Amino acid sequence: MSHQNTIAALPVPPGLGPDKQLVLRVMPMPADANGNGDIFGGWIMGQVDIAGAVLPARVARGRIATVAVNEFVFKQPVSVGDLVSFYASVERVGKTSITVHVEVWADRKPDAPEQVKVTEARLTYVAIDLQGRPRQLSTALALP
Ligand SMILES: CC(C)(COP(=O)(O)OP(=O)(O)OC[C@H]1O[C@@H](n2cnc3c(N)ncnc32)[C@H](O)[C@@H]1OP(=O)(O)O)[C@@H](O)C(=O)NCCC(=O)NCCS
Repeated sequence: MSHQNTIAALPVPPGLGPDKQLVLRVMPMPADANGNGDIFGGWIMGQVDIAGAVLPARVARGRIATVAVNEFVFKQPVSVGDLVSFYASVERVGKTSITVHVEVWADRKPDAPEQVKVTEARLTYVAIDLQGRPRQLSTALALP
């Protein structure tokens, strides 16, 4: 028997930017924790880099590389057992670069659910050719 219709979808976080779309959802493991028992900031940064690349890869329709982490703010700690969702929007498309803004939200306490914004970041990716050189984006590019 299927329970597909009886399990409520995760709610969209209140206050999430209207232009944001879900690009990654993952649950950190105990091995991702630091000495305090919270999730290591480097793990979050790595996941943000992966999540941030999703929309630029679609815009660039080819290889991209991270050129800069322009801003990164850890607002709240992430705990083992949190379900962590990454929402992104494209802020700027340049000649060869695409800048994205990423919001990270944690779904916590399954018995008394709450959603907390834990991190915000701005990253820039560059479209590259097979030699790793910047590649000009088509002016006709739009998100598919
Ligand atoms: C990405 C890379 C190919 C860019 O080459 P480059 O010669 O530095 O390129 P440019 O200086 O022409 O800059 C390319 C674009 O990036 C933008 N850019 C460069 N540095 C930036 C920064 N700090 N913040 C925001 N944008 C930046 C430029 O404004 C330009 O954008 P535009 O073409 O849309 O105007 C090169 O720097 C590289 O290979 N870096 C390593 C990438 C990598 O390994 N990433 C993984 C890190 S672990």
